[in-house]
Amino acid sequence: MKLRLFTLATWALSATATPNHNNPDFSLVGFAKDNPIGPTTGGRGGKTLTVTTPSDLVSAVAGDIPTTIYLSGNFNLTKRLQIGSNKSLIGRGAEITGAGLTIANRTNVIVRNLAIRYIVDNDGITIQNSTRVWIDHNEFSSDMNNGPDYYDGQCDIVRASDWITVSWNYFHDHWKSSLVGNSDALRDVDSGHLHVTYHHNYWRHSGTRGPAGRFGHQHVFNNLYEDFLYQAIHSRSDNQMLVEGNVFRGESGEALSTYGLVVPADSPNTSPDGDFEIDGFVNLGARNDWGSATVNITQIGNFTKARYWYRLTPLRDVQRVVKRGAGIGKI
Ligand SMILES: *[C@@H]1O[C@H](CO)[C@@H](O)[C@H](O)[C@H]1NC(C)=O
Ligand SMILES: *[C@@H]1O[C@H](CO)[C@@H](O)[C@H](O)[C@H]1NC(C)=O
Ligand SMILES: *[C@@H]1O[C@H](CO)[C@@H](O)[C@H](O)[C@H]1NC(C)=O
Ligand SMILES: *[C@@H]1O[C@H](CO)[C@@H](O)[C@H](O)[C@H]1NC(C)=O
Ligand SMILES: *[C@@H]1O[C@H](CO)[C@@H](O)[C@H](O)[C@H]1NC(C)=O
Ligand SMILES: *[C@@H]1O[C@H](CO)[C@@H](O)[C@H](O)[C@H]1NC(C)=O
Repeated sequence: MKLRLFTLATWALSATATPNHNNPDFSLVGFAKDNPIGPTTGGRGGKTLTVTTPSDLVSAVAGDIPTTIYLSGNFNLTKRLQIGSNKSLIGRGAEITGAGLTIANRTNVIVRNLAIRYIVDNDGITIQNSTRVWIDHNEFSSDMNNGPDYYDGQCDIVRASDWITVSWNYFHDHWKSSLVGNSDALRDVDSGHLHVTYHHNYWRHSGTRGPAGRFGHQHVFNNLYEDFLYQAIHSRSDNQMLVEGNVFRGESGEALSTYGLVVPADSPNTSPDGDFEIDGFVNLGARNDWGSATVNITQIGNFTKARYWYRLTPLRDVQRVVKRGAGIGKI
């Protein structure tokens, strides 16, 4: 009898919890929402249009007038797409190949529900000297057959960019995933910027940079890593990271490191033994599940708390919730 009651009570609890897992809250959280210059709204309040050809896409994203652009079909771009301010790009069965997306010297951009694949010799998305950007529910992929430098980053954030959220993306089959801060020469330009929230992303079969941060602040929570082969979360060059509630599975190498060495499996450009940078900092918030991957923390930092509202997914649910919610076709 007691047992029976207990079973009923458990069932009732999980029944009320289930709808949350099937319909997770996909609204904007993190630095792209809560920051000193205002939330990211993209094209909200402006006109709406649908594009189906690369040339229509190029003109739709130009300029700074608020616009929501729905993309439908395959866009095999011949040069990088330069996105203006106050834009939402939303895929409705859309794939980008040929050349990637650039958000440079702009503010207030949302990129959602796009497949971005096989961008040779350059990034899937580059965010440069730009603020208020939300990269959400995209799928980034290529292959790992050609070494680290054949493709470049999947989503790189550079040159003092700030107030960015990267959420619910599916990053897979790619070497260098997401670099924040790309050059020693930009140390002074970057320092005090590069605030990025990475949450509920699904990384599978990747090499390095999940993400790698330099000179900035990143909050990395509730991400799922499967077969992340070499160096996943990497805080270096005085970077500060808050890392919590992440799950590692499969054959993953190094889950987290603040040691400055960029492993040879990344793309060392000064020595075959890797590039030496100075170390970064990390703070651990809620518990992580490192699986069989290693952790090398050399310096504890002072990014102890994210000063915005967010809800952590319980660690035991992260794998299921992220697999179900990340990538295209989920919103
Ligand atoms: C994109 O266009 C290039 C050059 O025209 C071509 O080589 C390539 O196969 C195309 N890719 C796709 C996915 O259509
Ligand atoms: C659009 O972007 C520019 C910055 O490029 C900004 O100054 C302007 O306020 C924005 N307009 C609206 C309506 O949000
Ligand atoms: C961004 O601004 C810098 C400095 O004004 C300029 O050199 C660069 O070409 C701009 N980039 C783009 C894509 O507009
Ligand atoms: C950064 O972007 C602003 C426009 O938002 C521009 O005025 C400035 O020159 C850019 N700086 C660099 C270094 O690209
Ligand atoms: C961990 O960091 C230390 C430096 O503090 C370094 O000597 C060591 O080689 C690192 N371990 C790995 C496995 O990279
Ligand atoms: C956090 O630590 C860094 C590195 O030691 C330091 O430069 C920075 O001033 C500290 N920030 C605060 C708010 O204490």
